[in-house]
Amino acid sequence: MNPMVISTAKGLVIKIRNFEFPDIKRIMEIEEEASLDGNSALYMELYEEWPEGFLVVEKDDDVIAFEVIVLTPEGEGRIFAIAVDSRYRGLGIGRSLLRVAFSILRKNKIGFVQLEVRVSNQIAERLYRSMGYIEVGFAPYYYKDGEGAILMKKVL
Ligand SMILES: CC(C)(COP(=O)(O)OP(=O)(O)OC[C@H]1O[C@@H](n2cnc3c(N)ncnc32)[C@H](O)[C@@H]1OP(=O)(O)O)[C@@H](O)C(=O)NCCC(=O)NCCS
Repeated sequence: MNPMVISTAKGLVIKIRNFEFPDIKRIMEIEEEASLDGNSALYMELYEEWPEGFLVVEKDDDVIAFEVIVLTPEGEGRIFAIAVDSRYRGLGIGRSLLRVAFSILRKNKIGFVQLEVRVSNQIAERLYRSMGYIEVGFAPYYYKDGEGAILMKKVL
């Protein structure tokens, strides 16, 4: 993807571009703050598998959010991870990143996109529902700390 400068629905101007190796330090800071379950080796592997699916958001030359989209063996898209630096949440970045993910997947002729969300993560769940995701299942003990995940899917 060519880097794009956009204004979110809340009026924040951001740059969205593909991941580059020096970004990994900020990615890990943002992901630890967001209590996601990933690690840097896994993120690098996912980048190498499909560079087009690893997006970062820049504001004033700092990385403030990221999103990793992967392709499943069944040929569907999956939002593997999405997180925004806590100082920038609620400003429309998450919604913008999901829109870009949908357009990348559609360009690749993918018909569905799935994801998992913690049962307790009502903010993310509300965001996904508002973007057309529906609940399709539940995975108990999905996360390392034992919490279950709601499985959600959207038609593209
Ligand atoms: C989930 C997350 C990525 C959303 O990103 P964001 O940039 O804050 O989201 P947006 O500003 O685009 O908000 C989109 C919607 O989320 C919901 N939302 C965002 N912040 C909220 C808040 N503080 N309280 C309640 N709802 C909120 C609203 O429904 C909002 O819709 P609106 O635009 O109609 O108000 C972000 O909160 C985050 O990084 N959380 C920690 C990591 C995480 O939970 N990742 C998802 C794992 S499945």
